[in-house]
Amino acid sequence: MEQLTPDHNLALDLVRVTEAAAISAARWMGRSDKFSGDGAAVDAMRQFLATVPMRGTVVIGEGAKDEAPMLYTGEIVGRGDGPEVDVAVDPVEGTNLLANGRDHALAVIAVSERGAMWDPGPALYMKKIVVPAQAREAIDIRLPATLNLKRIAEALDRRMEDLTVFVLDKPRHQPLLEEIRRIGARITLHSDGDVMGALLAAIPGTGVDVMMGTGGTPEGILSAAAIQSLGAGFQGQLDPQKDYEKAALVEASTDLDKVLTLQDLIKSDNTFFAATGITGGSFLEGVQFDRERGVTTHSLVIRSRTGSIRYIKGIHQV
Ligand code: FBP
Repeated sequence: MEQLTPDHNLALDLVRVTEAAAISAARWMGRSDKFSGDGAAVDAMRQFLATVPMRGTVVIGEGAKDEAPMLYTGEIVGRGDGPEVDVAVDPVEGTNLLANGRDHALAVIAVSERGAMWDPGPALYMKKIVVPAQAREAIDIRLPATLNLKRIAEALDRRMEDLTVFVLDKPRHQPLLEEIRRIGARITLHSDGDVMGALLAAIPGTGVDVMMGTGGTPEGILSAAAIQSLGAGFQGQLDPQKDYEKAALVEASTDLDKVLTLQDLIKSDNTFFAATGITGGSFLEGVQFDRERGVTTHSLVIRSRTGSIRYIKGIHQV
């Protein structure tokens, strides 16, 4: 029998990074101070990134160097040995969720081979559709939501009224919501956090079947890292919301009609993804300060090459 040589699963190192970020950020839950929560997560993430055996370059970070002192785009992170990689971070995905003590704030990181991750340039917003693997071939983001939902229901062998669609609760989604309501699917509305929405839609059995609508482009790339590893379905299309964003994309002659696939966003089958719950939620529990000098965390760790998914409960002595 062929002997399989196990290689290093970087995601298991990366989960320590998201655990540390989540623990630090969680102390700011509900304190209406999103900057301190984010700052605490950034500090912790950076400290733990220095232990990861990789030579990483942040390609999706907290912004440009002059606006983000740490984890800025272009920053070199990692222990300095091991593979050369692209690193995408969101120390707190859902800063408002954390500040308001609402469910689903996450600490997230994704790593892939150097040069694999798409550079979104000035693109801040992207329209996205995410479905589980079974409906992967059914989606076409250029079609109206109703048609997509019909095709998804058919692929999942489900009645329309039994489909649940995750949508961000934003004024821009009013027409989308009306369309979904007209066709009779169920909707779960969330003020923020479409990386969680993408995870819920991509993983069967979470109670969410589809994620639809426009959210951040960096969040799209982070989500793509997980979706790719899960074999789930994704399509995106740039959907600029701000005037200066539109102007910059026109200036750069960006094709706004282009359908962005997983392969466009991450050109590698060797990707690692880790996320730790900061606040709670039905899918991933948040940080619990529930033991004497101890903390409990809940994380999700995914690796694309092997398709392995781990749910890790961490008990930490602080
Ligand atoms: P932040 O953590 O950066 O605040 O992002 C939260 C989020 O809800 C993302 O999940 C989503 O992609 C994006 O913001 C949507 O942006 P906006 O709130 O501007 O519509």
